[in-house]
Amino acid sequence: DVFQELSGLLQKEKLLAKVLGIQKVIIVPGNLDEDANIKHLIGKEAASLLTEHAKKDDYVAITGGSTVAALTHFLEPVKSLDSLTFIAARGSIGDELDFQANTLVSQFASKCHANSKTLYLPEHLSQTAYETMMKEPIIKEIIDLYDEVRIVIHGIGNAKEMAERRQSNPEIISLLRDKQAVGEAFGYYFDENGQIIHRINTIGIQLEQVKQSRNIIAVAGGANKAKAIQAYFNIAAKHTVLITDEGAANAILNG
Ligand code: G3H
Repeated sequence: DVFQELSGLLQKEKLLAKVLGIQKVIIVPGNLDEDANIKHLIGKEAASLLTEHAKKDDYVAITGGSTVAALTHFLEPVKSLDSLTFIAARGSIGDELDFQANTLVSQFASKCHANSKTLYLPEHLSQTAYETMMKEPIIKEIIDLYDEVRIVIHGIGNAKEMAERRQSNPEIISLLRDKQAVGEAFGYYFDENGQIIHRINTIGIQLEQVKQSRNIIAVAGGANKAKAIQAYFNIAAKHTVLITDEGAANAILNG
């Protein structure tokens, strides 16, 4: 019955938190690989967690991705959210305009009457262009803001899928394959031990800055992300809260 199902999920949450070495996991029922609507359940949980933990004038960094995008429907102009400033955790994602961090930053801010700061930059910068950009005052301003971030909301990607989505060049694709990349977060690609293999050349929040933020909410579901999620928690801060689905949870727990 419903109660049994619920207590089963709660137990799974505890078990998964232990396996991943973090304090809190929230599992929504279903597998989003089979049902895309499950993303909304994840988005809803993430939005209420944000509402619960947000403090006046907090800076909130968000990444792109369809899972983070799912929060949009559940954000409201309530008191705990309307003084926030949303900032993009990094530059854009290729041509995926709907799901890039900057687009979401504006949408989130307009949904809860909060503030936003966007950072429009090309992806895949050359080393020289990248170094020049970093010195631009407007970019420096955003980079300095990353130190003030109190809340981070981010997705976790399957490495192969993300590299394809970003139309990464063949050298990068073979590097990721040779070094057995399984996951991606914040533009960092890592293997199953959480070893960082590659980072895309874009301006963005550093992992160290993520770890220093007060609340970190990771949103990722679907059995095909199990390896990516598990790998990411080798490097994630212990106070990260994972919001996932049964599809990913079962795949991790059943090894
Ligand atoms: O960095 C990972 C991506 O944000 C994940 O994107 O939620 O659309 O799978 P997704």
